[in-house]
Amino acid sequence: MEIIVAESYEQMSRLAADMIERQLLRKPSSVLGLATGSTPVGFYQELVRRHAQQGLDFSKVITFNLDEYLDLSPSHPQSYRYFMDHNLFNFINVDPKNIHVPYGHTEEVDEFCDWYEQEIKRVGGIDIQVLGIGADGHIAFNEPGSSLGSRTRLKTLTKQTIDDNARFFDNPEEVPRFAITMGVGTILEAKEIILLAHGAKKAEIVAQALEGPITAQVSASALQMHRHVTVIVDAEGGSLLKRADYYRWVFEEKKRLVPRLIGKVT
Ligand code: GLP
Repeated sequence: MEIIVAESYEQMSRLAADMIERQLLRKPSSVLGLATGSTPVGFYQELVRRHAQQGLDFSKVITFNLDEYLDLSPSHPQSYRYFMDHNLFNFINVDPKNIHVPYGHTEEVDEFCDWYEQEIKRVGGIDIQVLGIGADGHIAFNEPGSSLGSRTRLKTLTKQTIDDNARFFDNPEEVPRFAITMGVGTILEAKEIILLAHGAKKAEIVAQALEGPITAQVSASALQMHRHVTVIVDAEGGSLLKRADYYRWVFEEKKRLVPRLIGKVT
């Protein structure tokens, strides 16, 4: 696991975009796993900018989103499909038929979840999965207690997640209680993972997930078992990491000596 403590949210977003750009240059038909939430907004803006100004090409890219609220239609402004359209998809040249976001209005949840897993396998698996982290340590909507081997399925959200997400809805009662989410096991099968976290509110859970024990009580701690994870946090998000000085030193040395090794586990 490589942990980068960036100076700012902007630098965090740029570093993540650098990794995606390198991946797309290496493999234009990459399969990208994408996340929602406020954390990746700057990263998506940076990808949109690079597409517009530098021609970063998404025409062959295939995308899979982590999760979606149950019973919100794709056109609902708080649905994750709507979020993705308005933060990324509408502004890049991704082929709409290559976009996958769990369909929250499905009648057949179990069948849909099995299909989603099969689709990921059919295209050869996810090359890079981008993640945020919830205040309770969830990745996607894998709330505390989710099996570290879990697959795409229906999950009930915790009170804390419902409260955290209430800010996006007119009325807290409107926040969905259920979501379709990739499982921790699904996420761990991605070939490479980038975890983004920013702000003081995430500092405690980031430290627990990265430097604490691996436990189903903190889903993000399962990333410690993955062979290629890059964590990029801003200074506030990384402020409670015990080894922050070491992570900063590694990053500076790489920048100075071998910049191409940034984002590579070595
Ligand atoms: C939601 C999403 C997660 C996301 C989390 C954090 O719960 N399902 O994928 O990581 O929010 O959101 P934010 O980035 O707004 O803190």
